[in-house]
Amino acid sequence: MAEKYSRATLTRNFLKTITRIKNPDEMLADAGKGGLEKTLGVWDLIILGVGAIIGSGIFAIVGIAAAGGDSSLGAGPALMVSMVIAAIACIFSALCYSEFATMIPVAGGAYTYTFATLGEFAAWMVGWVLMLEYAIGFIAVACAWSNHLVQFLSGFERFLPAWLANPPVWLVNDPFSAAKIVSANPDIFVPKLFGVPICINLPAILIVLLITAILVKGTKDSAKMAGIMVFVKLAVIALFVIAGAFYVRPENWTPFAPNGVEGIFAGAFIIFFAYIGFDALATAAEECKNPQKDLPVGIIGSLIVTTIVYVLVALILTGMQDTSSAVPAGFLKAPMAYCMMTIAHQNWAAGLISIGSLAGLTSVLLVLEMAATRILYAMSRDHFISKRFQKIHPKFKTPALLTWTVGLLAVVGILTLNLDVAAELCNYGTFTSFIIVCVAVLILRKTDPDRPRPFKVPFSPVVPSLGIITCGGLMVYKSMQPSSSALLFPVWLGVGAMIYLLYGFVKNRLNENKIHNEKVHNKRQELLK
Ligand code: ALA
Repeated sequence: MAEKYSRATLTRNFLKTITRIKNPDEMLADAGKGGLEKTLGVWDLIILGVGAIIGSGIFAIVGIAAAGGDSSLGAGPALMVSMVIAAIACIFSALCYSEFATMIPVAGGAYTYTFATLGEFAAWMVGWVLMLEYAIGFIAVACAWSNHLVQFLSGFERFLPAWLANPPVWLVNDPFSAAKIVSANPDIFVPKLFGVPICINLPAILIVLLITAILVKGTKDSAKMAGIMVFVKLAVIALFVIAGAFYVRPENWTPFAPNGVEGIFAGAFIIFFAYIGFDALATAAEECKNPQKDLPVGIIGSLIVTTIVYVLVALILTGMQDTSSAVPAGFLKAPMAYCMMTIAHQNWAAGLISIGSLAGLTSVLLVLEMAATRILYAMSRDHFISKRFQKIHPKFKTPALLTWTVGLLAVVGILTLNLDVAAELCNYGTFTSFIIVCVAVLILRKTDPDRPRPFKVPFSPVVPSLGIITCGGLMVYKSMQPSSSALLFPVWLGVGAMIYLLYGFVKNRLNENKIHNEKVHNKRQELLK
């Protein structure tokens, strides 16, 4: 009986510990000490949002969403419907993000909000899942960047040496993509070590190292840089839409949905990746001039601008290329540039689109790696990971060790994952964090109803519940189809829970003991005086 009682007590204590929340007032007080300059207005926020959102989703992954990939059906011309579905799922969550961001305007995003509502364990899991969004997303965008570089160089066949204009397959692909290319064309050379093919996506690795070095050095004029990149991105997309409209063949729009509703939902799951990034705006809350008013407008505004741009691109792309049957590999890798080069035969436009997409992807890479390091930095401050990661570089004033660690882990990811799997895993991570933010809004409305909420999600609990249903629905729908990401996601969650139990939990308790002992020691010293 005694044993039973003590076991029950232990379990209760354990549950109490892992659900202990961090008070929002404590977070606000901590943030107040930071003294960040408040410089961002509503237009800065929309520009930053569009800068963070538009990237490989629309420049690369859109091809797979339209025509299908190894493990997913394509939406065909109904891609525009998929895009609107994905945008709606984002808008519900965006409203919930806005409520939190204006109520607790501190850095850390979903990780911080979870700590304030669901406690330590859930916060760790959200931080771990956010690594799928930001760090694995970083890998996906780096692979897309490499595809665009290869596409761009191939346009200069007449001027560049052959090894640069048409680089060896094994030097610009991950092992999975290279295996696919080789199976279609067995004459292609791939070096082997003890019978294992060696494939390295060198451009992806180099851009990851370069972005890491830039972040370590500090990105002073990042808002200005983002503004220029946004302009370049939007200009090349406008060029594609206007020039491409002349090459649209309306017969390509039928059948409208070659894979029916299933294809539309599969497309919505994949193209969701193209909207990721607006949540990064919430992390800039501390730097807004008027977060209460501007942040919701900035978040929703950038989503609306992006949706309009995406639907226009979908219309032209599926009008230029028949997506109801198998499409060429070039369309799957860099669809806009491919259409301009192969269908419109406008090499100059294809070149400009490639340059624009490279610039666009570079800005997304910067945001994703910075977001990954920011979350890990917050987790290190909360004793979930080693304190060493909080070390700031004496000259550059950035968390250099943490940034290099993320960069080197991304290189390992590039050697072992491919674009589709990385993008799908990133979607799983983001859906999960969006669902948790919607749940957290509902919880805090109950547990802390009197806290001032400068922006309130309209029609709560309907809107947060719709956010949970749309994000959850797309995730469950995708999980029912066999794919590597559907298998890897639960594995990722399991590994995260194990690391928490074996490391994070223990470390946090040791830290609590240390703080307690320090308090006792200080008190004793005072009494002795
Ligand atoms: N939304 C970002 C992109 O499409 C992640 O690259």
